[in-house]
Amino acid sequence: MSQLNERVTVVDHPLAKHKLSLLRSKDTSDADFRRLVNEISLIEGIEATRLLKTEPVDVQTPVALAHCERLADAPVIVPILRAGLGLLDGMLELVPSAAVGHLGMERNEVTHIPREYYAKMPQDVASRPVIIVDPMLATGGSSIAAIDYLRKRGVKDLTLMVMVAAPEGIQAVLDADADVRIVTCAIDERLNDDAYIVPGLGDAGDRIFGTVK
Ligand code: PRP
Ligand code: URA
Repeated sequence: MSQLNERVTVVDHPLAKHKLSLLRSKDTSDADFRRLVNEISLIEGIEATRLLKTEPVDVQTPVALAHCERLADAPVIVPILRAGLGLLDGMLELVPSAAVGHLGMERNEVTHIPREYYAKMPQDVASRPVIIVDPMLATGGSSIAAIDYLRKRGVKDLTLMVMVAAPEGIQAVLDADADVRIVTCAIDERLNDDAYIVPGLGDAGDRIFGTVK
């Protein structure tokens, strides 16, 4: 793990790098792509959950009393539909007590502005730590809209977990919100004229769900 600054963490574990190299290849099948996204979420999720608070708990082992710690508040995982769903199962495997809030955002292909089309949050989302998950942070429009949505509902403790980020998107998110923490596996070179990340990995949603041949 390396810290770009106090709010941006790059998960540079060798296994994350290795799996990302496979994920980026245009020759990786949709099935392998989906599996790799899930595997990366298991590695990256460890870092994205690092700041969750714990509380003391005493546990009776077969031998003696152990002074342990357990999660104080189970987080809410918010996948940005569709592609964020690819990271959800891994996060729930790591934190089975998490709740899930779904947020549908679709980026307009021409304007690159996201449109919200679905939202369903746990009732107590405001009082819990929230981790937004989406494989791609390009212009930052979708992430910023998700952050805005959650802030308006009173969420205070917010982390954004992506797999690949463009420098432009990271800066846009940092500028838009004074507190959100970003966790990513890679920061790529730039955006192209279609607002795709270069070199990136193409359209994450289409590759996870096999919607374009
Ligand atoms: C992709 C991706 C992000 C967004 C990133 O989703 O999963 O949500 O674009 O781009 P941005 O940072 O410029 O907003 P898309 O809108 O293509 O929808 P999908 O997940 O349904 O494919
Ligand atoms: N959405 C993607 O899926 N990929 C990009 O490179 C940019 C936005």
